[in-house]
Amino acid sequence: MTRLPDVIVALDFPDPETAWELVERLPVDTWYKVGLELFTRAGPPVVERLVGEGRNVFLDLKLHDIPNTVAGAVRSASRLGARLLTVHAAGGEAMLRAAAQAAAESGGDGGSEEPSDRLRLLAITVLTSLDDAALSAVIGPGASVEETAGRLAGLARESGIDGAVSSVNECRAIKLACGAEFLVVTPGIRLAGQGTQDQLRVATPATARAAGADYLVVGRTITQATDPAEALERVRAALLD
Ligand code: C5P
Repeated sequence: MTRLPDVIVALDFPDPETAWELVERLPVDTWYKVGLELFTRAGPPVVERLVGEGRNVFLDLKLHDIPNTVAGAVRSASRLGARLLTVHAAGGEAMLRAAAQAAAESGGDGGSEEPSDRLRLLAITVLTSLDDAALSAVIGPGASVEETAGRLAGLARESGIDGAVSSVNECRAIKLACGAEFLVVTPGIRLAGQGTQDQLRVATPATARAAGADYLVVGRTITQATDPAEALERVRAALLD
């Protein structure tokens, strides 16, 4: 059987104290997503503490700048010990190549020899908050989210980026176009029968696994649960439904 996807718990909290209360209630092998809200408030010490206590960190900073600056930020994230980091594919080929080279050279936390331990980069293609009209206002008339997202995933792959963030709906197409080794991380996960909240399109853990997802990002289903550890266990168990 192929490996089950890892569940990444989104630490969408404004302060490190609340984030840490949750982390301490979950098993040590849990992955965490640190995004712009928490990172802007609490900075690198949050990542260093998570990594220092043996947790895996997905740093969702969605980098987008000139190649030299992004490469520097990738090196900094690698030194912090993050395992996954997002970059905007719209930054272009030179930026993506510089980022990929920086990740390959920095080798992971503490200079680990294990290639699988190195920082891996994920492309953001088109934000799911954009529809065709909103995208057209940014890049020109007639733009299609589907075509643009597919093209940007291909550009990221050709430029040495390790994977992409995508909804479960696009997961299979990305795997087919970019190869099984190209990682796909999918948010928008809900347990069967659960409300969608503000997510427009949701999928169950089993559907995400069947579509080929390598990692599932899960936020409120776990973070707002009365018993987060039990909720995480339910998500993990639901991968096999
Ligand atoms: O609470 P919920 O499970 O909806 O949280 C999903 C997480 O995935 C949040 O951190 C959200 O920012 C992130 N995300 C998303 N949709 C995207 C990209 C990221 O929900 N298209």
